[in-house]
Amino acid sequence: MSHAFRVSPGGKLSGSLRVPGDKSISHRSIMLGAIADGTTHVSGFLEGADAISTMNVFRALGVRIEGPDQGRVTVHGVGIDGLRPSATPLDCGNAGTAMRLLIGLLAGQGFESTLIGDESLSKRPMRRVADPLAGMGARIETQDGKPPVRIRPVDALNGIDFDMPVASAQVKSALLLAGLYAQGETSVSEPAPTRDHTERMLAGFGVAVSRSGNRVGVQGGQRLRATDIDVPSDISSAAFFLVGASIAPGSDLLLEHVGVNPTRTGILDILKLMGADIELRNLREVGGEPVADIRVRHAPLRGIEVPAELVPLAIDEFPVLFVAAACASGRTVVTGAEELRVKESDRIAVMADGLQALGVAAQATPDGMIIDGRADGQPAFGTGTIESHGDHRIAMAFAIAALRAAGELRILDTVNVATSFPGFGSLARSAGLSLAEVDD
Ligand code: S3P
Repeated sequence: MSHAFRVSPGGKLSGSLRVPGDKSISHRSIMLGAIADGTTHVSGFLEGADAISTMNVFRALGVRIEGPDQGRVTVHGVGIDGLRPSATPLDCGNAGTAMRLLIGLLAGQGFESTLIGDESLSKRPMRRVADPLAGMGARIETQDGKPPVRIRPVDALNGIDFDMPVASAQVKSALLLAGLYAQGETSVSEPAPTRDHTERMLAGFGVAVSRSGNRVGVQGGQRLRATDIDVPSDISSAAFFLVGASIAPGSDLLLEHVGVNPTRTGILDILKLMGADIELRNLREVGGEPVADIRVRHAPLRGIEVPAELVPLAIDEFPVLFVAAACASGRTVVTGAEELRVKESDRIAVMADGLQALGVAAQATPDGMIIDGRADGQPAFGTGTIESHGDHRIAMAFAIAALRAAGELRILDTVNVATSFPGFGSLARSAGLSLAEVDD
């Protein structure tokens, strides 16, 4: 038996809501708290399966962690050299961020570890971190570039200066974490800006992080000092409601306490270029991360060519941005987004299949999609059944599409929605979506 959504067509989104905590920041709060000296208190922690996987991995590595309890977590740091070998493989579940960052963090330990994941994670590429780490002296074995990943102990790592071929925050973060255990400086330059939560949080833990231009670096041998972390709401989860309110006539929604780090706000820029009515209120800084309340009201959208530099800044939001494009007058063209093919599913192929099944003129390209949308005043989607391929963001994107569908949408294999957005169904219902969660 698996879970599914049945979503009735039409409706609008209104009221105010707070979506759960940021997934990227939640993973990092456990990782850095674990290797810090002292006790780190986290609030707003994402109680989703991915971040819980990270928490359980660090418990297996000998770290005492209390919670989560209503978003509160206490991490009793063991210090930079305090992790202990696990007797069993470390299970990262569905979480690519957990696995890639852990490969970096564990590469310089004096003990062996094995990392495993679920069916989806077991298909995802790990050489992008394993290869540069090998260049630092790490001993990492993969199965043809994929998990399980075995990390053997080494005496020492050497710092490197790495020119990253793909714009990936996970690769950058893995190298910086390994760099804490390396001799000399480890630096990474990125081809385009990517999320900088690792750099910001390392600085919050008292680590000196050097930044110049597109290069970021750390000196090995630094210790981390425990701190308190207030995790903002995840803009990647808010994205479903930003698009939903934009495409559904009559909508007026306030999303509270959303993280608006400029390396994450590509979704806001892209939607605004499409004509969305989005307003940031009460902009403030919380624990080193910018936060705002976001008001979004329905507005007629138009198709655009998505600027290349915005792609890495909105990389997780494309499933729902494709839904927005289907509701925009004219053509939307996305290029330079080939990374979408190696996410929790092949998000170009899976979205194109689902959109076409609902009658949308969507054409997959090797590195993106071309979509001819339907403007306001008519349904943009037909009716039917969608395969989410166990990908949380595909499932939520099609749930939002129902706001502009001609008939009911049935979305299959939705259990992984809980990896990033536990409670999506009830929050979406409270905002006005007619969504039922059913056993399939
Ligand atoms: C993440 C980085 C991105 C993103 C993922 C979270 C992170 O992956 O897609 O959901 O927390 O560092 P890539 O580094 O593969 O682009």
